[in-house]
Amino acid sequence: MAKDSLSITDNRTGASFEVPIENGAVDAMAFRAMKVNDEDFGLMTYDPGFKNTAACKSRVTFIDGDKGILRYRGYGIEDLAENCNFLEVAYLLLRGELPKEDELTDFTEQVTHHTFLHEKTRIFMEGFLATAHPMGMFVATVGALSTFYPDAKQIRDPESRWNSMIRLVAKVPTIAAFSYRHGMGFPFVYPLNELSYAGNFLNMVKKIGVRDYHPHPVLERAIEVLFILHADHEQNCSATAMRGVGSSHSDPFSATAAAAAALYGPLHGGANEAVLRMLREIGTVDRIPEFLEAVKRGERRLMGFGHRVYKAYDPRARVIKKLAHDVFEITGRNPLIEIAIELERIALNEDYFVKRRLYPNVDFYSGLIYEAMGFPTAFFTVLFGIPRTVGWLAQWEEMLTDPDQKIARPRQLYLGHKLREFVPIESR
Ligand code: ACO
Repeated sequence: MAKDSLSITDNRTGASFEVPIENGAVDAMAFRAMKVNDEDFGLMTYDPGFKNTAACKSRVTFIDGDKGILRYRGYGIEDLAENCNFLEVAYLLLRGELPKEDELTDFTEQVTHHTFLHEKTRIFMEGFLATAHPMGMFVATVGALSTFYPDAKQIRDPESRWNSMIRLVAKVPTIAAFSYRHGMGFPFVYPLNELSYAGNFLNMVKKIGVRDYHPHPVLERAIEVLFILHADHEQNCSATAMRGVGSSHSDPFSATAAAAAALYGPLHGGANEAVLRMLREIGTVDRIPEFLEAVKRGERRLMGFGHRVYKAYDPRARVIKKLAHDVFEITGRNPLIEIAIELERIALNEDYFVKRRLYPNVDFYSGLIYEAMGFPTAFFTVLFGIPRTVGWLAQWEEMLTDPDQKIARPRQLYLGHKLREFVPIESR
């Protein structure tokens, strides 16, 4: 008997099966052969929320949730955050290797030259209510780009895919900045090609009433690092949306809009917004125990804590916590940091959190930095969506070039009525 296999006896029939184990997994289709009779559909696996189901093979991002390890294409997140700029990391994720100098120059030039939006896109964005949530504007505008680039539907053409990837990476900061300025009632600031990716973004967001805006280098670097930390996180909810929608061969702009919509939710990218609301509601350090009691009773959730994959300290949270101190040196200390640090200290010593292995995730401290930098809470998820666009695209490219992949179409366990006799409306 092969060692790398699973022996299964179906006790309903007594039949035995040997299922090969490959890369630590068994092929779910192997279970289809396990039937009670010829009419039987065969056994399925039941896994709502995909808690233990690999839907793809991937070479993009590695996470060891127990050890708190995150790597892009084999490189430790701490090394990338320390040594790279964002476009270097974007190239790594999209192309699989760190760029050589000339490759980075070329990639930077390509991205820089696609940062402008078609004027009709700007006009489209002006149509939103002044009160529109910037993430709603982001989702809608990214989706609308598909109407500007019909050639993006050529998803079997590598050149077309690359053009779309460059366009998306280049344009999401502009869309994000316009969504911010629209809400503030400020005129839009157009991209400036001489600035870095992060510097240009800050210029489009922050410039007002001055001829030249110069972001503080520490804040520019902080944005760069936050972008690197958020660029990919393997098969999370939004990457799964990207792959799922992309699997029907939608164009990449539509698929990216779907991924952004998934990111919008408070259990995913919307969590940092929720963390700030929670910290404000707690208000003072002495009210933390009362709040944690409500969490333990199941009435509240400690936002920014817990993760489907990390059952240890999220390595991104560690980098961000340190970054927060650099940022506060420039911006002044965010008063909510005291509550956050104390909340973390108490929670990490509480049985409820220890038993469930709940630790701070990436969102616990990122909102505090964003707020100190003057970004409104509603904008936080958009700040996440800019770099995550790179991860979505890397996952999308991998999915499309993987011969194993098919249209995403899960099975269900139907528990509803059997055939019922139709009842006319007057008799119901
Ligand atoms: N506060 C209190 N209890 C929690 C929390 C939390 N933040 N997270 C999980 N738990 C509890 C659950 O109630 C459950 O307890 P039980 O076993 O007694 O029922 C147990 O821990 C396991 O939690 P699940 O919800 O089953 O874990 P799951 O993997 O489905 O959820 C999630 C992960 C959604 C991230 C969850 O931890 C959560 O809601 N956290 C708060 C929101 C948040 O910070 N999201 C950002 C995630 S990072 C990102 O998306 C970028």
